[in-house]
Amino acid sequence: MCADRSIDFTGIHFENPFLLSSAPPTESESNILRAFEAGWGGVVTKTIGLHPVVNVYGAKAKFMRTTPEDSNVSMKKRPGAALHSSWNWELISDKTLDWWAPRIRRIKEAFPNRVLIASIMAGSGSDKELKHWQELAESCQANGADGLELNFSCPHMDRRDMGSNIGKDSVLCSYVTEAVREVAKIPVWCKLTPATADIVVEAGACFRGGADAVVSSNTFPSLPVIDPETLEFEINVDGLVSSGGLGGPAILPMALAKMAQLTKGFPDKSFSGIGGVSDFKQALSYFLLGCGTVQVCTSAMLDQAVGPNIIKRLLSGLDNFIDAHAADGWTNIESFRGIRRDRIVLQSEIRRPAAAEYHSGYEGVEGYAAPQSDEVAAR
Ligand SMILES: Cc1cc2nc3c(=O)[nH]c(=O)nc-3n(C[C@H](O)[C@H](O)[C@H](O)COP(=O)(O)O)c2cc1C
Repeated sequence: MCADRSIDFTGIHFENPFLLSSAPPTESESNILRAFEAGWGGVVTKTIGLHPVVNVYGAKAKFMRTTPEDSNVSMKKRPGAALHSSWNWELISDKTLDWWAPRIRRIKEAFPNRVLIASIMAGSGSDKELKHWQELAESCQANGADGLELNFSCPHMDRRDMGSNIGKDSVLCSYVTEAVREVAKIPVWCKLTPATADIVVEAGACFRGGADAVVSSNTFPSLPVIDPETLEFEINVDGLVSSGGLGGPAILPMALAKMAQLTKGFPDKSFSGIGGVSDFKQALSYFLLGCGTVQVCTSAMLDQAVGPNIIKRLLSGLDNFIDAHAADGWTNIESFRGIRRDRIVLQSEIRRPAAAEYHSGYEGVEGYAAPQSDEVAAR
């Protein structure tokens, strides 16, 4: 029997749960068509905005590699080095909405059964800006997009009311989601920045605004390393650098931690996981934490720009996993989605040799029993 790869996520039917995330692999019509030919279940377009976009001189993204003998992390190519991460300071799409609109329509006509999500971004500081979100949403929707992903996560925006600066502000998260919800007839996903103290707060605000799903993680704020010989940042323009975003294998454990906070905070809501996925092994962690879909960027960039081998590995990994667990009665992703979410507990709930002597970091309580874990959590 063939494994059932499909999933219904936020009311959208996916032939398989794997999407290319919003990034260079999804920046053009030809890339997106090639991605669907390769087998991706969905694609999120490179983020579309209304403001002019001009990228910096030179490389917008590079890959960092590490070597086993010295654990050095560097963008310099050297033999025997393994991929550590991607680093980028690329802005959103430099193509206009007018450029994107007919392409969204053509892509959907060519692949009606694959899922095309339009990633959009505008400011949030005024009614005019909220109307920009609505204009972007309405145009993508009218041209056949299956869903919208609101970019509250781009780490490169100077504007205080854009990108990850929205994702750090729960009030703005709610306002913008509500504004889009007013015009959207298709599902609305919010992609949050991981650069926030408690992502559960911003996710709650998105859900209150009417979001159908939360997506995490975008890249983590980071700098390129400084070359010890030239004393220059490995990426710079005229010696200058600004904070950029880290993706790829290095962020997997951090992105999983963000996702666990989200799925534990909202066990009945929908989540799409991103960060460090190149194989089914990593995607599985996101499913076991409760995600319904998984998105990929860095590993696809390194695999013929749209990841034909990555999607092959993801699909065969999923098939083999379902096959191997036939005896557990698992027939599809829903059978095992979220089954490891409850394994994440407070430190005090982890078994230790002398449990009675440990009081969650508090001093011992004389004459009384040590506090129960729910009391500790409430403190
Ligand atoms: C060069 C580059 C450009 C990106 N552009 C966008 C973008 O326009 N919109 C967006 O939501 N995320 C963007 N991302 C973030 C990715 O979609 C993804 O969230 C991140 O890279 C983590 O996934 P990964 O570990 O698979 O790379 C970009 C990432 C890279 C490396």
